[in-house]
Amino acid sequence: MKILGIETSCDDTSVAIYDDYFGLIKQYTVHQFQIHEYFGGIVPELAARFHLTSLVQIFRKIFKYDISRKNRNFFFSQLDAISYTAGPGLIGSLLVGATFGHSLADSMKIPCIMINHIEGHLLSGMINQKNPIFPFIALLVSGGNTQLIYAKKLGEYIVLGKSLDDAVGHVFDYIGKCLGLSYPGGKKLSYLARFGRSGRYLFPRPMIYSNCLNFSFSGLKTCVKNIISNSNKTFQNKADIAKSFEEAVFDVLVHKCKKALIKMNLNNLVICGGVSANNVLKKKMLKLVKLYNWNLFFPEKQFCTDNAAMIAYAGYLRYKFFLHKNISSIFVNPKWFINNFK
Ligand code: KG4
Repeated sequence: MKILGIETSCDDTSVAIYDDYFGLIKQYTVHQFQIHEYFGGIVPELAARFHLTSLVQIFRKIFKYDISRKNRNFFFSQLDAISYTAGPGLIGSLLVGATFGHSLADSMKIPCIMINHIEGHLLSGMINQKNPIFPFIALLVSGGNTQLIYAKKLGEYIVLGKSLDDAVGHVFDYIGKCLGLSYPGGKKLSYLARFGRSGRYLFPRPMIYSNCLNFSFSGLKTCVKNIISNSNKTFQNKADIAKSFEEAVFDVLVHKCKKALIKMNLNNLVICGGVSANNVLKKKMLKLVKLYNWNLFFPEKQFCTDNAAMIAYAGYLRYKFFLHKNISSIFVNPKWFINNFK
């Protein structure tokens, strides 16, 4: 069974092919960093236009690659289904992927499967396994989302907690900008933090001891921003701030994951989304699970940020377990909520 996955929810254009025997055959992703860098954040209209030009190019590239180099006798006509990200995301960007996917599927008379982007992330740590391991607690930390989700089984998810204001990835990018780093600053900030000294600044750990599993990062964002504007901008000082900021955020994330696993009496933890590419976060989570003898799943680096492999994999699982819907019209939902999504 071969599924083509299409991801265009935000600012990454990605196409992948997943095979039930070989696993992920190939993935191509094009980032739009250079386009949005000038504006210091994503411009939705530009993102959609860029998807429009890059999607066809990537699609052509992926098939040329597989036919000529992999020699697996793989042709376009062998696809069994197409899956695409139908939400949540930017409406213009989503529509590009959805229209492209539906047109292909209709012309080939194969099913077109709509995938919730969050579900794709939840499964991204298990792409190399034929069947994902349920139930688990997932911490999704990306540029647009910070959520703690109880994944009971494929298609049954309950959001236990979420950020009441800013998402972790967004705060990383914002503080990165305040420290003079170019967009997106998250990865660069974590690199800078490597040179920082631990505990030089004591930043708040918002809502760490609250009874609920929600998060709030906007107060911390303002606090760190004010410290940056009132302090000298030497490399060492900036690195110290980056380090203390990272520690404050990750302390909260680790504590809430622990709380969620104990509350739900589970022992499988999945960390996913762009910020899961952070090695310090990984080390802290490893320390936690070791202490309680829990299992930890982190996606490979290439599957942390937005990618089509997770969409193809989610499509494969839904197709295999008859959980896909045959819809005749093009469906997108920019605010598609994962709770009780079937
Ligand atoms: O999942 P993702 O690709 O898409 C969005 O929903 O935006 O996540 C991107 C986010 C960005 O905010 C980026 O700065 C952040 O993930 N990110 C990181 C790291 N790598 C990417 N944040 C912290 N440390 C990293 N190593």
